[in-house]
Amino acid sequence: MACKGSLLPPHLVKLLDADDYHKARSTSGHYYYISRMAMRQTNWIKIFCFLSFLAILAWGCFFQGVPLYPGLYFGCSSPAWKKAVLQSAARQEGGQMTVLVTGAAGFVGSHVSLALKSRGDGVVGLDNFNDYYPVALKRARAANLQKAGIFIVEADLNDKAVLSKLFDLVHFTHILHLAAQAGVRYAVKNPLAYVHSNVGAFVTLLEQCKVSYGKSSNPQPAIVYASSSSVYGLNSKVPFSEDDRTDHPASLYAATKKADEVLAHTYNHIYGLSITALRFFTVYGPWGRPDMAYFSFARNIVEGQPIKIFQGPHGEELARDFTFIDDVVKGCVASLDTALPSTGSSGKKRKKAQFRIFNLGNTQPVKVGDFVSILEKHLKKKAKRNVIPMPATGDVMFTHANVTKARVALGYNPTTDLDTGLGIFVKWYKSFYQHGGSNEDMLKGYKPY
Ligand SMILES: NC(=O)c1ccc[n+]([C@@H]2O[C@H](COP(=O)([O-])OP(=O)(O)OC[C@H]3O[C@@H](n4cnc5c(N)ncnc54)[C@H](O)[C@@H]3O)[C@@H](O)[C@H]2O)c1
Repeated sequence: MACKGSLLPPHLVKLLDADDYHKARSTSGHYYYISRMAMRQTNWIKIFCFLSFLAILAWGCFFQGVPLYPGLYFGCSSPAWKKAVLQSAARQEGGQMTVLVTGAAGFVGSHVSLALKSRGDGVVGLDNFNDYYPVALKRARAANLQKAGIFIVEADLNDKAVLSKLFDLVHFTHILHLAAQAGVRYAVKNPLAYVHSNVGAFVTLLEQCKVSYGKSSNPQPAIVYASSSSVYGLNSKVPFSEDDRTDHPASLYAATKKADEVLAHTYNHIYGLSITALRFFTVYGPWGRPDMAYFSFARNIVEGQPIKIFQGPHGEELARDFTFIDDVVKGCVASLDTALPSTGSSGKKRKKAQFRIFNLGNTQPVKVGDFVSILEKHLKKKAKRNVIPMPATGDVMFTHANVTKARVALGYNPTTDLDTGLGIFVKWYKSFYQHGGSNEDMLKGYKPY
């Protein structure tokens, strides 16, 4: 490190006390003699600059709401956090509701949050950004939401203190609860993650909704939440209707979703919370989940890797009622719009509250083999199909929704066929993960369960 003004010719240095000088060599091979005093001053200036930078960063993050990373802010006591929450919760022209969207950095949550915000509703997200699948994708979704003015509280839904602070700050008229540990097969490996996020977190949220709005002047929010087609379990009658039995789940994931429906009924019955359950059927589309078959198949086909196609015990093909994300978003928004207010006050219900369950499917199941052919067409590449017996990890042979109830009550009308929807997905996939782009490595090393 040469310091101008401290360079001395070697013969002069000898005349001085050598301890006061440091000998340094430049890249061109010349030797410099630098005063140790000047070096110390330079070091102090560096330390001062670094500390000033840290102080400005802390001030920006703590008081001005500058994110440390898209979606990542300082804890929920800072003025910046409160400001960000309140700004995000503020309704714009045309907005009718203030919604807490849990799982907002997730696939469905990010889409519905944007739809609500775009029509003026106040939206605050909450997500714990867990690493069940690549967190970078959740961060990228969060960055989209941030651009639209939606703040995501980064917290686990089981964190009562954060929920309490959030509900003290904002009067949510509606909750759209989408946070969950998703995925059927991963439940074999990590069952407690499902109990934590699907059962524990749901009860924590219901408790918060019940207690925080005990006063009649400050009514409880109405709740719409994600259940799943998996609750139909081993049913063989198709299409699946909401009144069919749901007491023989095939996976622990399905069991926790069924538990949610039962818990929801209890809170509706005792506390008068208005609750709507939405049984989603294999939702797919842009910004989707890398653990789901349509996504991992697309990835493997692009990368020239084989795909595993499961088959039933007698060689039957699996079939799924694939539902495009835009149709599901419309179903979620219509459910919020038609949700009646909760009827609880001071922890007790004043009168019976609304309790609804709807299937949100596409009503046209497609065999997995046919679905792969559509994917091949859009990707313009053949899949290496590896047909194997279905492992005993909780998948069911088929799903097929009857959506009559949702049609009548919500005006739900799925309009996107699989060919169109997969075309839109593939277009997004190719542009997002394009070769040589900054997202190309996002999936590197990730293997779905
Ligand atoms: N996508 C589908 O095909 C499908 C089908 C049926 C049901 N569902 C249900 O719909 C909902 C949304 O699904 P998705 O596909 O968007 O899943 P997703 O995994 O993309 O989104 C869920 C989000 O919840 C967050 N989360 C998980 N546990 C949390 C916790 N304890 N606290 C805070 N955040 C937490 C995750 O980080 C994730 O971002 C889920 O409840 C899922 O079970 C989805």
